Amino acid sequence: LEKTFSPVRSIRGTYTPPGDKSIAHRALLLGAMAAGRCSIFGVPGGDAVAGTADCLAGLGVEIEKDGSRFEVGGKGWEVASRAGLDARNSATTMRLLAGALAGRDGKYVLSGDRFLSRRPMDRVAEPLREMGAEVELASGRFPPVAITGGGLTGIRYELPVPSAQVKSAILLAGLQAAGRTEVVEPQPTRDHTERMLEWLGVAIERTSGPAGAVIAISEPAGCLPLPKFEMKIPGDLSSAAFLIVAALLASEGELRVTGVGLNPTRDGVIEILRSMGADLEKIAETQEPEPAGTIVARPSSLHATDIDAEMVPRTIDELPLLAVAAAFAEGRTTISGASELRVKESDRIAGTAQGLRALGATVEETEDGLVIDGPCKLGGATVDPKGDHRLALCFAIAGLCGDAPVTIAGWESSSVSYPEFEADLAAVAG
Ligand code: S3P
Repeated sequence: LEKTFSPVRSIRGTYTPPGDKSIAHRALLLGAMAAGRCSIFGVPGGDAVAGTADCLAGLGVEIEKDGSRFEVGGKGWEVASRAGLDARNSATTMRLLAGALAGRDGKYVLSGDRFLSRRPMDRVAEPLREMGAEVELASGRFPPVAITGGGLTGIRYELPVPSAQVKSAILLAGLQAAGRTEVVEPQPTRDHTERMLEWLGVAIERTSGPAGAVIAISEPAGCLPLPKFEMKIPGDLSSAAFLIVAALLASEGELRVTGVGLNPTRDGVIEILRSMGADLEKIAETQEPEPAGTIVARPSSLHATDIDAEMVPRTIDELPLLAVAAAFAEGRTTISGASELRVKESDRIAGTAQGLRALGATVEETEDGLVIDGPCKLGGATVDPKGDHRLALCFAIAGLCGDAPVTIAGWESSSVSYPEFEADLAAVAG
């Protein structure tokens, strides 16, 4: 499916983005570990979270869906052996479930689509094996992931790459292990798992040591089942970021993004855009268990910035979008320390560089990042995001904010993360 996005003058109005995918995966999974039915409101559509819901249903967890409201669980993670669990496109589903299932007595096999099948799973297999699970991978590295779980012992594990998925897999296994589990992260990554566990009464210790932050579950005995809960998922800042950038680059208007997640481990995109001169206001409103609030974005003239390894984990999913914003900004923007982008749904360093270049931007690819010289005149071309949902959405923003229409090949991939995008855009674009 090809889809063309043409330049817009204004982005104006109030908008509530779909629910946060990272938080929704965790809410469903922790709901499956609860004693009693949990109500989860604001679960986003799209294939990613559907992967988690399907896998849980495959494991025999009761899941009922009514629009964006899900009712989950009630059996405290009593799941039986099961092969044929399909995580679809979602690495979060596969890696978090691998950790959660490593704690169960049983055999489980998780597989995924052709994109997920190329993504590294050894990063979760290694710590889970150290804890006592048997984990088999294809060619020692890739899905399907076959897990024989049970009988885990806690470990101390220093994350070799900053990854919230790996941290979460270890913590979810640690909940079911004998003794203390510690994850050491050299750089802070999104902390939704530990936040939600704390909110549900699990004693999580957060300290800092010489090698970075230490997140520990010291006394897992008796943590499961978790208490039942009700939760509203805040809006996804990673989804909202697309229209926020469009609003900054438009010549008129004002976009108010309400009910959006403002977790400080996720809001690097706001900080970076502000450092580029963006007129962005942030109004904190509610806190439990996740910070949320309102963001107001107004037309701004952007200038270049430097994004380095320290900032990368706080904005990992928005880096391609920041590269698009940089193409419209005055001066040379550099992104470095971001080699993790090469093992996402696609190689997002190569994909961003190729796509932006096809649209007329001056972009160089480096081993671990990008160099963008702006401002560029963008548009008047067809671009192929090669099946990567976030890149498809990024190039749509280039079309809305550039000088000529942009046609995106394989637009249907955008529905993995943001099937509501076109409707949300239509409501605010002028
Ligand atoms: C996620 C963590 C990040 C992110 C992904 C969602 C999560 O991945 O890119 O979209 O929900 O934990 P890594 O843990 O691989 O960095």
